Amino acid sequence: MFLVAVSFSCTTANDNAKDDPTKGLKDHYNAFFPIGVSVSPAELRSEEATLILKEFNSITPVNAMKMKPIHPKEHEYYWKDADSIVAFAKRNGLKVRGHVLVWHQELPEWLLKDSTGKDATKEQVLQRLKEHITHVMQRYKGSIYAWDVVNEVISDDKNEFYRPSPLYKLCGEDFIFKAFEYAHAADPDATLFYNDYNETDPIKRAKIIQLIRKLRSANIPVHAIGLQAHWSIYDLTEKELEATLKDFSNLGLPLQITELDMSIYPRIVDEKKAPDTLFSKEKQNRQAFQYKMCFELFRKYRKHITGVTFWNVSDKKSWLDNFPVKGRKDHPLLFNEMLKRKRAYYEVSSF
Ligand code: GLA
Repeated sequence: MFLVAVSFSCTTANDNAKDDPTKGLKDHYNAFFPIGVSVSPAELRSEEATLILKEFNSITPVNAMKMKPIHPKEHEYYWKDADSIVAFAKRNGLKVRGHVLVWHQELPEWLLKDSTGKDATKEQVLQRLKEHITHVMQRYKGSIYAWDVVNEVISDDKNEFYRPSPLYKLCGEDFIFKAFEYAHAADPDATLFYNDYNETDPIKRAKIIQLIRKLRSANIPVHAIGLQAHWSIYDLTEKELEATLKDFSNLGLPLQITELDMSIYPRIVDEKKAPDTLFSKEKQNRQAFQYKMCFELFRKYRKHITGVTFWNVSDKKSWLDNFPVKGRKDHPLLFNEMLKRKRAYYEVSSF
């Protein structure tokens, strides 16, 4: 929370003066790190594609490589969407981050059941994960340089270490260890990430770091850490972000910001109050201020940060529309509903 009175009006020159139509974000950050965005096949066939190619040099499938869409039945894969994203990247010389091999959401039902509908055994589940990881990674070997191997296994409850997901209940922590081993065997050249959110919370962060240390000391091939960065214009201070980047960089592994967005709502929803959905000047300024602060720190930690990826392209459509409050529109990105650069864009691109 912002407890101090801060003026959010931007004192810099007006936005048009800072606009350089010849350059995209990726060009401004050329000397720092790739700038990525999560995409769907439909976006790559529509007007978003022009914006993506202008501004970004890395893409991540927003859904197409999640387990349920790509592996809907035990012996059936659906490659079309993922293939089309990888082909777009190839045609246009973009990097691809793979997302995601093991996650407690978007799991196909067959994974955790045996043929009679009862819980599968641990051995069965691990064998299925192995096949899944091996097939998917080998298909895109050489085209995908980095993979989110395991996503969100740490609990948000301060009294609990691991998230008590059905996968955890059946396999214990072994599925985490094994997933990285399977992934490394499938593509020894890929950079393997552990990826999680609420990473700025000191208690959760300490647990993520503890997990990484545990994996590393058991010689498990985890190579890098993904900080999802689903943040808000109200809930993140410079001090918190700096502490986060400092703590993670002390691990000595590369870091990436993997799912960046900046909601215009506080994270904790006050259910008694109707949301103030107006994207007012004050909120626009606050968002610009917040993005500027984040990228100043990302640049400061450039030695550790090997990529920054936004989650969704523009405010036209983001996962935060209707989430977590139904009917609520959000404006979390650097491009507005018309795909135009927002005030926050200029704060990120001019430095
Ligand atoms: C998590 C997942 C992403 C995406 C977002 C929001 O952060 O890693 O794939 O689903 O939730 O939708």
